[in-house]
Amino acid sequence: MKFFIDTANLDQIKEAEDLGVLDGVTTNPSLMAKEGITGEENILNHYKKICEIVEGDVSAEVIATDYEGMVKQGEELAALNPQIVVKLPLIEDGIKACKYFTDKGIKTNVTLVFSVGQALLAAKAGATYVSPFLGRLDDISTDGMNLIEEIRTVYDNYGFKTQILAASVRNTMHIVNCAKLGSDVMTGPLSAIKGLLKHPLTDIGLAKFLADYAKGNA
Ligand code: E4P
Repeated sequence: MKFFIDTANLDQIKEAEDLGVLDGVTTNPSLMAKEGITGEENILNHYKKICEIVEGDVSAEVIATDYEGMVKQGEELAALNPQIVVKLPLIEDGIKACKYFTDKGIKTNVTLVFSVGQALLAAKAGATYVSPFLGRLDDISTDGMNLIEEIRTVYDNYGFKTQILAASVRNTMHIVNCAKLGSDVMTGPLSAIKGLLKHPLTDIGLAKFLADYAKGNA
């Protein structure tokens, strides 16, 4: 299972990279705005900085919602670095643009996916990644994890190569449950990734080992 971090914060990306478990980064326009990155040139430069920190795939989202605009922006983004994955919304023109980039051998991440049917379309268009937003489904009292499970079943039925990128992951149990269901990738905040470290018995056990060592070597 690949671990992506879902942020545009360079310090957090660096911290996750230093942990040695990071496989890539996802961003979106909201995450860019949160870091105060505005204006086309600054945004493109920020993507370049992210690519310098990590070795894996970096999803960069188009703002255009029409086919021509998405193709133009996606090509600009893809030209920045071979690590860039063009992130496209699951709308009609987004699916067409996905097929365009697939045919050109450029990686894509089809985002804002909330149903199995949408995920099926993304796979048919050859998406590299499909991003079901499980946290946002949980937010409206709908089982986000169920969507991951159903997409897994459908993709396995037909051997689709599109990787399931569980997105809108908010906590450690989201990560663990995605892993149980066979999600190929998860993207979440640093807090959720680091939350996996925590277990009180680890802390108690380590304290005892160190105390016993200290007694024996006093
Ligand atoms: C996915 O790529 C999105 O950037 C992200 O996971 C959305 O998460 P949120 O629902 O916590 O905003």
